Amino acid sequence: MIILKTPAEVLVMAEASRVVAEALEIVRKAVCPGISTEELDRVAEEAIRARGAVPAFKGYRNYPKTLCASVNEQVVHGIPSKRKLKEGDIIGLDLGAIVGGFYGDSAVTVAVGRIPAETEKLVQVTKEALFLGIKQAVVGNRVTDISHAVQQHVESAGFSVVTEFVGHGIGRQLHEEPQVPNYGKPGQGARLQPGMVLAIEPMVNMGRSAVRVLEDRWTAVTVDGSLSAHFEHTIAVQPNGAPRILSQWETL
Ligand code: MF3
Ligand code: CO
Repeated sequence: MIILKTPAEVLVMAEASRVVAEALEIVRKAVCPGISTEELDRVAEEAIRARGAVPAFKGYRNYPKTLCASVNEQVVHGIPSKRKLKEGDIIGLDLGAIVGGFYGDSAVTVAVGRIPAETEKLVQVTKEALFLGIKQAVVGNRVTDISHAVQQHVESAGFSVVTEFVGHGIGRQLHEEPQVPNYGKPGQGARLQPGMVLAIEPMVNMGRSAVRVLEDRWTAVTVDGSLSAHFEHTIAVQPNGAPRILSQWETL
């Protein structure tokens, strides 16, 4: 069942998502060669708590940290550790926060210092795929119109979408219906309605699509070792026109 949110609930979700966006901006500025992902986790937790919010991932299904920090061939759910970043790495930063009982969820992938042109392209294409997906989140469309737009853009750039993980509805739970895959034929799945709030999150591999989960039971990596990028926004479908991006980091 898809739980529609009232306008007042969407406002609370906008608050949670704004906390996430601001925290992401702070963590992204702390990214540099030599910093450990555990230090980034501390920065993230402080930023969220300083805003009166609660980190959403810590303790979620026993996830141990506030931040998901996924470096290079890590796709999603990298657990912050003593690992230090080095020039040329890319890192996916994924954060969630709870405000007034509602979740916000957003992710960005950022470069550590200078990165090769092909890596830059991977990051850029993944971000573009997110915004092309978001554009489809309008009344009259169905869920897989989002999915198809993402897949189309990624594959025409020569990259591949991850199929094992998907975007999701979001609200009083981090993961609600519907699932929002990053692949599929257009025109399928639920009809989009005002009050639907979705976390749209393309995960894109430079090489093949296959992923596996490490022995820590969280970190997803590409099977072929190729680089992977991830962007995510929490958005609300509006009665008219374009969706509202609740986790706006681009304008911060
Ligand atoms: N953005 C991810 C998701 O929606 C983050 C989940 S990490 C977890 O699934 F630890 F909370 F599971
Ligand atoms: Co998510």
